Amino acid sequence: MPSRRDVMVGGLSLAAAGILSTVSSANAATANIKLQGAYKTGSVEKALDIISLYDLEDEARELIPAPQFGYISSGSGDEWTLRENTRAFDDYQIIPRYLAGIKEPDTTTELLGSKVDIPIFIPPMAAHGLAHISAEVGTARGAAAAGTLFTAQTLSNSSLEDIAKVSNGPKWFQIYFTKDMGINRELIRRAKAMGATAIVFTVDLEWSGNREADRRNKFTYPSSLLFPNIPGAPVGATLSEITALFKRDLDFKDLEFLAKESGLPIIVKGIQSAENAKECVDHGATAIQVSNHGGRQLDTVPAAIKSLPGIVEAVGRHIPVYLDGGIRRGIHVFKALALGAKAVAIGRPILYGLALGGAPGVTSVLNLLKYELKLSMKLAGCAAIKDIERKFISLI
Ligand code: FNR
Ligand code: LAC
Repeated sequence: MPSRRDVMVGGLSLAAAGILSTVSSANAATANIKLQGAYKTGSVEKALDIISLYDLEDEARELIPAPQFGYISSGSGDEWTLRENTRAFDDYQIIPRYLAGIKEPDTTTELLGSKVDIPIFIPPMAAHGLAHISAEVGTARGAAAAGTLFTAQTLSNSSLEDIAKVSNGPKWFQIYFTKDMGINRELIRRAKAMGATAIVFTVDLEWSGNREADRRNKFTYPSSLLFPNIPGAPVGATLSEITALFKRDLDFKDLEFLAKESGLPIIVKGIQSAENAKECVDHGATAIQVSNHGGRQLDTVPAAIKSLPGIVEAVGRHIPVYLDGGIRRGIHVFKALALGAKAVAIGRPILYGLALGGAPGVTSVLNLLKYELKLSMKLAGCAAIKDIERKFISLI
């Protein structure tokens, strides 16, 4: 077997892009998994040779113990929204424009003032320790190496202070608003000390969704996996037990409190209706993250990409609108941007990259998407992110 290989796609060297930087041995059969107290988790640190993010999910399924994989990968109820999040991208087609005189597209952009190499960032996801021993510290390092932004979250297994030590890349902090105003204030203080430049306010998880996989697998967060950002969080608990700490009657006053207390821009995450987006703007939101929590909360809500255009029309002239849910390919990123998103976030594949390769695995996932996006821009005729417009999309 060759120890190194390279593939040229168009004018792009995948090895140079960090996508094919190692041997193709990143499969689950050879990857290590380590016992961490009461559970097993990934422990290898290496760049991954990824052809497509769908392959990566299959490899991760072989590596990560079933209850943990079930928690990460599954959705709620019939998982209709989970499937639809990705499928719905097929309802939009890209119409290319040629003779545009473009040499190499530029994927750089900015996220609320932070410069990033790609319009793709990492959304908040609970408990990265389920995937890899390095937990959020690994993911944050992987994001910084790929030149993009990491959202640190309330339910992280690495402390915000440890994340700050390893990553000088751009960071936001996602808050689960708890019943205890002292904890909320302390979370905001620690997030600012970590260097967070915005607060992501997730509004769609006062109760956890109907996660049947977790009930079948009797999933609890392992007792040796801690949540150092929430003092008093129960150990070895179910998600429902953890959410009992959260404020369960959130309203616009909570949004106003976050803006005032933090003095930072607030991105409201989980919005799916145009009217709701307008209300958030009226109460101080700086940005909206269109999201259905990756199909993990209310099943049968529309795919995120279907909710996007109405929200962009309602508030997109005034504030940035971001999107997450179902993105698995560069063409999905392209379509979301063409329909008005300023940037997108990608969830589960990041945890699969982390499980299989630690920080370099996360970077490989982001580099693959960067390459796929750049290729779609080149083939569609877009020189820069701002050129990806509605005119490139046709709806069947
Ligand atoms: C999430 N998500 C999430 N969102 C949030 O605001 N706070 C959180 O703690 C979590 N936790 C979480 C854990 C896991 C394992 C997953 C997969 C997701 C939702 C996340 O931010 C995002 O909305 C979706 O993951 C996007 O969908 P895709 O890219 O995974 O399809
Ligand atoms: C989730 C959380 C905690 O599992 O947001 O989706």
